[in-house]
Amino acid sequence: DAPIAIVGAMHEELAALLAVMPDEQPETIAGREFWRGHLEGRPVVVVLSRIGKAAAATTAAVLLARYGVRAVLFTGVAGGLGDGVAVGDVVVARELLQHDMDASPLFPRHEVPLTGIARFAADAALAGALAAAAEEVLAALPTHLPAEVQAEFALTQARLHRGLIVSGDRFVATAAESAALRAALPDALAVEMEGAAVAQVCHDWGVPFAAVRTISDRADDAAHADFGRFVARVASPFSAAIVRRALAR
Ligand code: ADE
Repeated sequence: DAPIAIVGAMHEELAALLAVMPDEQPETIAGREFWRGHLEGRPVVVVLSRIGKAAAATTAAVLLARYGVRAVLFTGVAGGLGDGVAVGDVVVARELLQHDMDASPLFPRHEVPLTGIARFAADAALAGALAAAAEEVLAALPTHLPAEVQAEFALTQARLHRGLIVSGDRFVATAAESAALRAALPDALAVEMEGAAVAQVCHDWGVPFAAVRTISDRADDAAHADFGRFVARVASPFSAAIVRRALAR
């Protein structure tokens, strides 16, 4: 039974999942620790990709070539771009695009050369499972997060969004830069630094991919501080709860 890969860029995004796989031993490849084990009775490989598109693509290639995973799920945080995409909201990707890919005039802006693709589609069934899991977690927040954390981040208002996630090798931390992204890609819901790269690698291998991101900041002048607070307090339990529920489905 081929495992499902669970990938996050930062320790804080995976810590709560690794905590419920206590007896597993990691294997180190390319400086990353690959944790084989089981979650919700399913074989999984959990790994920290590190931050950025190349780090994520390297990690995905090892998962596909060495572990033969049958699907890849990416989980973590992102900056909110879309109207009404607030801190604490959850975004499940329908499509992923590399906002810093630009080989024009040789190829259209954002298109990955020689693939003919700018927007990589997430697997509909996996994305549906992540969305249903996220709805369940949002409807039962008190069972996943302490009351003071919910209050601090106004998480009772949190909503699920589904659509375009964009990725690039930039932590977007000014209002001017997020406005430029919104102008170039008006339907982008959230920005992060890995998802579309992993989507491209999975596309090349013909393996299904899906991504879920919790919004840690609004990719504006306050992004740096908001990101730090959210990652420290909320990201890990939120990610773990959604991924476990999706695997249980
Ligand atoms: N991940 C979380 N917040 C982000 C931001 N503002 N830019 C890029 N990646 C992020």
